[in-house]
Amino acid sequence: MDLLLHFLLLVSVIIPTPFTTSSSSSPPYALKLGSSLSVDTKDDFLISPDRVFTAGFYSVGDNAFCFSIWFTKPLSNGHLTVVWMANRDAPVNGARSKLSLSKTGNLVLQDADQDLLIWTTRTRDLTGSAQLKLNNSGNLYLQSRDGQILWQSFGSPTDTLLPNQPLTKDAMLVSSRSRTNYSSGFYKLFFDNDNVLRLVYTGPKVTGIYWPNPELRAWDAGRSTYGSERTATIDLFGRFISSDGLFFNTSDNGDQPMRRVTMDFDGNVRVYSLDASRRIWEVTWQAIAQTCTIHGSCGENSTCSNEPTYGRKCTCLPYHKMINQTDWSYGCEPAFQQSLHGNGEDSFLYCPHFDFYGYDSKYLPNTTLNACKKECRNISNCKGFQYKYDKKQGIFLCYPKFLLLNGFSSVSFNGSFYLKVPASTVSSNTNKAIQELNLNCSGHPTTIQLERVYDRKKEKGSIKYLLLFTYVFGSLEMICIIYFFYKTRNSVTNSQGYLQAATGFERFRYADLRKASKNFSIEIGRGGGAVVYKGVLSDNRVAAIKRLKEASSNQGEAEFLAEISTLGKLNHMNLIDIWGYCAEGKHRILVYEYMENGSLADNLHSSKLDWDKRFEVAVGTAKGLAYLHEECLEWVLHCDVKPHNILLDQDCFPKVADFGLSKFLDRDGRGNLEFIKARGTRGYMAPEWFFVSQPITSKVDVYSYGVVMLEMITGRSPKGSDQSGGYEGMTIRWVREKVAVAAEGYGGKSNWIEEIVDSTVNGEYDSIRMGILIKVALQCAEENKDARPTMSQVVDMLLRGDGH
Ligand SMILES: *[C@@H]1O[C@H](CO)[C@@H](O)[C@H](O)[C@H]1NC(C)=O
Ligand SMILES: *[C@@H]1O[C@H](CO)[C@@H](O)[C@H](O)[C@H]1NC(C)=O
Ligand SMILES: *[C@@H]1O[C@H](CO)[C@@H](O)[C@H](O)[C@H]1NC(C)=O
Ligand SMILES: *[C@@H]1O[C@H](CO)[C@@H](O)[C@H](O)[C@H]1NC(C)=O
Ligand SMILES: *[C@@H]1O[C@H](CO)[C@@H](O)[C@H](O)[C@H]1NC(C)=O
Ligand SMILES: *[C@@H]1O[C@H](CO)[C@@H](O)[C@H](O)[C@H]1NC(C)=O
Ligand SMILES: *[C@@H]1O[C@H](CO)[C@@H](O)[C@H](O)[C@H]1NC(C)=O
Ligand SMILES: *[C@@H]1O[C@H](CO)[C@@H](O)[C@H](O)[C@H]1NC(C)=O
Ligand SMILES: *[C@@H]1O[C@H](CO)[C@@H](O)[C@H](O)[C@H]1NC(C)=O
Repeated sequence: MDLLLHFLLLVSVIIPTPFTTSSSSSPPYALKLGSSLSVDTKDDFLISPDRVFTAGFYSVGDNAFCFSIWFTKPLSNGHLTVVWMANRDAPVNGARSKLSLSKTGNLVLQDADQDLLIWTTRTRDLTGSAQLKLNNSGNLYLQSRDGQILWQSFGSPTDTLLPNQPLTKDAMLVSSRSRTNYSSGFYKLFFDNDNVLRLVYTGPKVTGIYWPNPELRAWDAGRSTYGSERTATIDLFGRFISSDGLFFNTSDNGDQPMRRVTMDFDGNVRVYSLDASRRIWEVTWQAIAQTCTIHGSCGENSTCSNEPTYGRKCTCLPYHKMINQTDWSYGCEPAFQQSLHGNGEDSFLYCPHFDFYGYDSKYLPNTTLNACKKECRNISNCKGFQYKYDKKQGIFLCYPKFLLLNGFSSVSFNGSFYLKVPASTVSSNTNKAIQELNLNCSGHPTTIQLERVYDRKKEKGSIKYLLLFTYVFGSLEMICIIYFFYKTRNSVTNSQGYLQAATGFERFRYADLRKASKNFSIEIGRGGGAVVYKGVLSDNRVAAIKRLKEASSNQGEAEFLAEISTLGKLNHMNLIDIWGYCAEGKHRILVYEYMENGSLADNLHSSKLDWDKRFEVAVGTAKGLAYLHEECLEWVLHCDVKPHNILLDQDCFPKVADFGLSKFLDRDGRGNLEFIKARGTRGYMAPEWFFVSQPITSKVDVYSYGVVMLEMITGRSPKGSDQSGGYEGMTIRWVREKVAVAAEGYGGKSNWIEEIVDSTVNGEYDSIRMGILIKVALQCAEENKDARPTMSQVVDMLLRGDGH
């Protein structure tokens, strides 16, 4: 095979092809010494032998061109996909610019002004017959006659890696500025000094690493710092392998050469696969599920929140206004007068569930709220502080901040932020232009007189120093050094508590879990390749301990963690919280929060669950699923929505459980479809499962959701007595018939609802709301997947109250 390839390569080098210059109407396959490609000549391109890739001048704006490589065939929307650029930051003129291969073997890009050298490979060919060619793999390379590769575009990627193109220690992927501006942006994928593949934001003002989770040490994030090799590639089968131990398969793994790994302008790294029939790129992997953890997306003094319906959203802090109305990355500025010399009165606005990552001027464990406020008042540069409870140690932690960046608000974050504002601002509160949007940090704070007995000069000096450090020496190298210095110094003393509070991810020992679960004696659930036990952890937290079956045990700890780290990133009040994991020997265990009231299945006929609560369960479950479908990738499908997987806390607040584990179960060598089939539960499975030809999409969960809702309303099991092998259960058909009869006008309007709902359930119901819920549920359980709404539409319909 190799020999054959070599032979073919040799032949193509030796035998002169008829298309060596642009004189022919067909594009050339190679550029010879002394010839050039010109921006003026239309169709002056190099094309790969299989015609998949084209190299030439690509228009990036008005009279602005970049020498680029792109996929020849446009997408369905007419756009071309550029995979490489020579001069992204210095486009050339639309006339008289050219790329020439000099007689000496140097490749040079010149602007209209011929003296201006825009880009060059600085190569020299001693054989006198080098050629520039575009490979079928998308590699543009300059090869001398003796076969030596003098230069190749694979060695200097811009924002995209193609299959088999290695990312090495000498290269990095740099995002483009925006969707339409191809010049270098702020996000980079690179190997750091410890040989770990990371994502960094290098904004105009600050720099920060945000992937893998900077709260975790490399090995806790499933990465290895051993070995000096630094290389990462994705192969033709969609397998990504990095020398630091990051492995993953794209969700469509298999032979599909049209893939690309792109550092996107929004700060996420994604793998795209081309859907050849529809000619669109589909995301088949992404580094970050919770987009708010990407730094720099919402600028200073603003916070980011995830919204199932609207995606990522930036909001100014109270009493702040947006600096640039069109671009959130500029952040927000105070709309109040800042008292530089402090007239002594500062108050604090309470903002629950807010976090600002990094830029702490201090760390104060075991501090009361008042002491923390005092501290922040004392530091002139203090903009506010993070205050949270560390359950494990039983103390409150205080983090005064000198910069408010990487703001994040999420109901699942159990900590608060206190924003420092001049008391006069709060009391007058006249500025109507202030953007408070959805924030509710109101509740007028009390004003306390500040004691002014401190050495301001000294404090100011040290903070200034810190600021200078971040601003001026914010280079990559520095950050890495500071970061690891900080980590190794402080990891034992303080980061642990913060880390667990922030990520909710803890590594448990098997012996401890065995003890906690009384030798795995109290079984509370089973199925989906796992058994769940109840246990009490050493800190008295009650946990659900889920033991995965042997299937996954041949997998290393790092690999296991890399996979479950996705679960750790899923954070939603309607998804069950994961606290930690254990991977020892053949044991693979996940530790979740324990839900007092068991599952919806246990409570279908319980009096605890009145109609109001049932409606809440419907909305909450829909929100949780909407988050899974729309904020994460399509492949974070649940695939097994059923009453047993909707858990209820002490207030019967619903949380979806058992999601995101499908990948573990795909390890026993069976085909993809096979395994997914094993995941569903009969009665709740969408018709698509039974037709191999139909794609599995998020609509399978929508169907199951509809069935569960109907079961909750009617109290009838979906399976009923229908054993005819059909997928559509008795219950759906029964409800649909009742609704149809009502629509035809027999019987009163509220009558049909009365006939459908479970008469044994306590409480009154609002017949309008119930009607909506039934209609939405029926729509979800449509046989045709395209007729079903998305989960976020379901949320909307239930909350807005229109049933269509
Ligand atoms: C050209 O592509 C083939 C596979 O298509 C690959 O094996 C070969 O190494 C490539 N050559 C260069 C110089 O990139
Ligand atoms: C792209 O962004 C850069 C940096 O902000 C800017 O200098 C350049 O003019 C922009 N290019 C286009 C075509 O908008
Ligand atoms: C990726 O898929 C291959 C089979 O195609 C399998 O051997 C490997 O374990 C998978 N790796 C991961 C990380 O899922
Ligand atoms: C806001 O940002 C955009 C794009 O970066 C820029 O074109 C515009 O001039 C800015 N507006 C203001 C008021 O700074
Ligand atoms: C953010 O707010 C602080 C005061 O709280 C202010 O000093 C700073 O300049 C603001 N940031 C920006 C980008 O305006
Ligand atoms: C926290 O501080 C209080 C009072 O200062 C002290 O009694 C307590 O032992 C401290 N707790 C810890 C865990 O240090
Ligand atoms: C959140 O913190 C409060 C104390 O401030 C505590 O009572 C509560 O149990 C915590 N909730 C979670 C989910 O950690
Ligand atoms: C905002 O806070 C005020 C006062 O604390 C309260 O009355 C109001 O209900 C809150 N609004 C929301 C949407 O939580
Ligand atoms: C304010 O800070 C200075 C210097 O760090 C310290 O000496 C002083 O005790 C602090 N004052 C208060 C009230 O905390």
